[in-house]
Amino acid sequence: MGVITLVLILLAAVLAYTVIWVHHRRQQHAVFSRIGIPYVPPHLIYGSNHILRGSGKMTIDVIGQWLQQYGKIFGYYIGWKPTLVVADLDLIKTVLIKDFHNFSNRPKLVINAQPVVNTLVGLRDQRWKDVRSVLAPTFSMVKMKHMAGIMNEKINVLMKIIEEKSSNGENVEMYSIFQGLTLDVISECALAMKTQCQQKQNKDEMFKAVREFLKNAINPAILLALYFPYFASLMSFFSNRLALSGRMTRMIIDHLKGVIAVRRQDIDTRSVDVLQLMLEAAESRYQGNEDDKVWIKHKLLTDEEIIANAWVFMLGGFETTANSLTYTAYLLATHPEVQQRLYEEVCNVTKESGKVTLTYEDVQQLKYLDQVFSESLRLYPPVVTFIMRESADDFKLGDYLIPKDLSILVPIWQIHHDPQYWPDPHTFDPERNVSK
Ligand code: HEM
Repeated sequence: MGVITLVLILLAAVLAYTVIWVHHRRQQHAVFSRIGIPYVPPHLIYGSNHILRGSGKMTIDVIGQWLQQYGKIFGYYIGWKPTLVVADLDLIKTVLIKDFHNFSNRPKLVINAQPVVNTLVGLRDQRWKDVRSVLAPTFSMVKMKHMAGIMNEKINVLMKIIEEKSSNGENVEMYSIFQGLTLDVISECALAMKTQCQQKQNKDEMFKAVREFLKNAINPAILLALYFPYFASLMSFFSNRLALSGRMTRMIIDHLKGVIAVRRQDIDTRSVDVLQLMLEAAESRYQGNEDDKVWIKHKLLTDEEIIANAWVFMLGGFETTANSLTYTAYLLATHPEVQQRLYEEVCNVTKESGKVTLTYEDVQQLKYLDQVFSESLRLYPPVVTFIMRESADDFKLGDYLIPKDLSILVPIWQIHHDPQYWPDPHTFDPERNVSK
């Protein structure tokens, strides 16, 4: 066979493959037209991801623009993957509450990223339910009360730093301060790790590692797997090697393995952190009736799941809390009358209890604080593209028959700023949240 023939055969093969690929991708991009839902016309490779993340606009603004253009229910594609945006409150209620049995999963992870797959964010179906039912009591009121001491200790550090800076006439950069506070609290409460992120801002190893992790959080392997799903397994392989060897994840995993080993030997430990609660919840369950109890032989959570979930609590709680505290501080600074009223509420409660620090019970009495914080979360919700579900089966949602496996996004930012539900939505007004 001559060289030319070989080249021609190769070219024909590439051409045939491209034609099949394009046909297949068009089929994947036909979901919304098939069910009659308006959609953003997709680019063959990127879907609409290049607009969502590459147009220089914020994702929430792009979604807001599409909502105006296409209405309260529309679709877009990320690579091949269809996502249905639902901004209609009745339909959202169907998905999140009424028919939760059909929507209990978040969309499948595009690549099997470790350690996310073993966390509440990555687990699916019955395993998510099981792990969630073991972990939920960890955050009960009684358990939280025990952790209030740790929180107060860290807040005292924060107050000292602010006092020092303001008495020296220095500006206080609230975002880093709150990042430090949040990380110190979560590290000790969830990871049983004592950090000094507030005092040593740029020197604390954990603080540096977490910031580094978040800076590189957009994983190109995920994008590649979305554009070309055949690469997903290969991408999982490389991504896991990189992620697990990443400084922050490695630090957390190594530390937790050590603490778990120590705590298993010292069964009388008095620790009150989430890690300890997970260890106890994972192992201390009975099975059978009252008279005939037997220890469950298998653990309710594997060590891998305990470590992965401690890791996800750290990530899930860090930026969310630091952001919402920062925005709340900003809103208080720009609304001195609200600040004054809140200050008086706190003074009244501490006067009654006669203590300088607030207990868990004291905080429950701070009704105005609840109004202020809820309004701050409405105006500046820190999590805007994470409320997602996947349909387990074909499902009649409103007028549309949506297919199994379809991803659904609740556009929380737009709902929080919709004048239909919130008159004058851009105004900060804690009075909206007066409990009736
Ligand atoms: C102001 C602070 C926070 C905000 C605004 C926030 C927001 C959210 C939202 C919107 C979700 C998705 C809920 C859904 O899909 O229905 C979520 C889930 C989650 N958050 Fe937070 N969060 C905050 C603090 C925290 C903290 C402190 C932790 C850890 C201790 C945490 C851990 C998680 C976890 C593990 C999930 C997944 C739960 C599951 O699937 O079972 N979050 N959060």
